[in-house]
Amino acid sequence: MGRLTVIDHPLIRAKLTKLRDRSTDRLLFRQLLEELTAFMVYEITRDFPLREVEVETPLERTSGHELARPVVLVPILRAGIIMTEGVLRLIPNARVGHIGIYRDPVTLKPHVYYKKLPKNLREALVIVVDPMLATGGSAVEAVRLVKEEGGEDVRFLCLVAAPEGVRVFQEAHPGVPIYAAALDRELNDHGYILPGLGDAGDRLFGT
Ligand code: PRP
Ligand code: URA
Repeated sequence: MGRLTVIDHPLIRAKLTKLRDRSTDRLLFRQLLEELTAFMVYEITRDFPLREVEVETPLERTSGHELARPVVLVPILRAGIIMTEGVLRLIPNARVGHIGIYRDPVTLKPHVYYKKLPKNLREALVIVVDPMLATGGSAVEAVRLVKEEGGEDVRFLCLVAAPEGVRVFQEAHPGVPIYAAALDRELNDHGYILPGLGDAGDRLFGT
């Protein structure tokens, strides 16, 4: 079963609380989402393999390290796009693919409207990002598309996960670990996470 890791850190808890707050405005919401993503990437990349490289300091030659495999980041549009900057702060040369999915408000089923992924997915460490894992439909579909294009070593990073979505995702992609900042209580009748943070896309883009 794909492991769920809730990344627990005092700064993550404090920033997530601000993000949940209905009085947090759009500008701060974006900023917090970007910062939280950067903190979480720091944690989820802990096991990324390194290779040794030589480096010339101003004084002498020594050995150091660089990431051994390319990193590909795949935000799910729209809300995932704001997380891209948070990842790129720490891994500036990551390639970025995009998958556009919206959730039908009545059926809650995901609809794919855009897909553009880099070619080197098989050799890459792939991180799929979306702030919300609610019913799980969008994340399941996005990871399916990544695998279809050759992605093998995939991680899913979200901020808030619902137990229902975690179950669905783990059944569909048992080999893909999930990282979240919080596991919330449940979904409401409209598929929104409780307590959650509302509609992430709307809060980010003012729609
Ligand atoms: C939100 C969110 C996820 C999806 C999660 O996107 O950003 O992509 O819902 O729900 P699920 O787990 O039930 O599939 P939304 O469909 O609202 O699109 P948007 O980002 O364009 O607003
Ligand atoms: N999408 C969101 O943006 N928020 C939720 O709570 C569920 C799905």
